Amino acid sequence: MHITIAPASTQTGQATIRFLLADPSNPSVRGVYRNLTKVPDEFKSHPRFEAVRGDIEDVSSLHFEGSDAVLNIQPAIYEDKDTVAHARTVSGNIKTAVQAAASVKRLVLVSSEGAQYDHGVGEILTNHAAEIVLQDAAPEVVIVRCAYFMENWAAAIETIQEASFFFSTLTPLDFKLPHIATQDIGQACAAELLSTGAPLKSNPYIFDLEGPQPYSALDVKRAFEDAAGKELEVRPVEKEGLLEFWSTVFPPEVAKRFTELNLSFLPGGILHENSKPTGETRYGKTELVEVFKQLLGGQ
Ligand SMILES: NC(=O)c1ccc[n+]([C@@H]2O[C@H](COP(=O)([O-])OP(=O)(O)OC[C@H]3O[C@@H](n4cnc5c(N)ncnc54)[C@H](OP(=O)(O)O)[C@@H]3O)[C@@H](O)[C@H]2O)c1
Repeated sequence: MHITIAPASTQTGQATIRFLLADPSNPSVRGVYRNLTKVPDEFKSHPRFEAVRGDIEDVSSLHFEGSDAVLNIQPAIYEDKDTVAHARTVSGNIKTAVQAAASVKRLVLVSSEGAQYDHGVGEILTNHAAEIVLQDAAPEVVIVRCAYFMENWAAAIETIQEASFFFSTLTPLDFKLPHIATQDIGQACAAELLSTGAPLKSNPYIFDLEGPQPYSALDVKRAFEDAAGKELEVRPVEKEGLLEFWSTVFPPEVAKRFTELNLSFLPGGILHENSKPTGETRYGKTELVEVFKQLLGGQ
């Protein structure tokens, strides 16, 4: 089995490669990097891993011939531009490259919970656009709609280390939201890639992927306290303050998209009400505290 990961430097791509290289079926893996200096040492020396240069914005740089399956991840764009149009272009590039390679039987796409909505979900509209373009890109298409990444909380580490507090845009503080660890996404994607050729329940086959339990900001506080070994304060950013908060982090249009995304999953939001559930949910095993220990250990 030969598998291509595009782009391979993404956190979910990297996690998938780790599971593929450890699999007893010994698949060969090709990683697509726009910058080859980013290839981690752990993969560079592996006999079944090959790194190639490629940019998902440039269709002429994408070559999937010889691969049985392709994993596509579409990293967020933190610029004031039409990100939905950008997602359509990038997805078109992936589709063209997949269809030019007769060997590719399966495409797996990392997407987001809420990607079934064409309005009201902010940044997730890019995932919606990607799903529409790629749903018939290969003979078999698998779409993995991921919950909120546990690793998003890495943004809190700076204030935790410097001043023992962190901001939470997840409110009320006891409101629980599904989270998923990127290593569990990697495991699920690797399993789907390695199942190429096996019958799918539907085509495209779409499922939600969540962690073992949902977590609130208070659970996040407890997990960080456990991982950091000190007491912490959590400072809630209430709904009314979200645009101002995100505007301190991102350019204006990006801040608007992240505010809409943020509101969509809070109580009363379109994803909290979720009138269009995906239908199937799978669960990873990794708990928040394990991810936080890794994040703080890596500082
Ligand atoms: N965060 C969440 O809570 C969440 C939840 C659900 C779904 N998702 C979805 O997950 C996806 C993001 O996954 P991720 O976190 O694994 O990605 P990521 O780590 O944020 O991806 C960043 C990497 O992508 C590479 N990259 C960016 N543009 C590229 C291009 N044009 N060509 C080649 N490489 C490029 C960058 O390469 P360089 O190193 O060269 O800069 C960088 O290393 C998004 O589609 C998002 O919607 C996220």
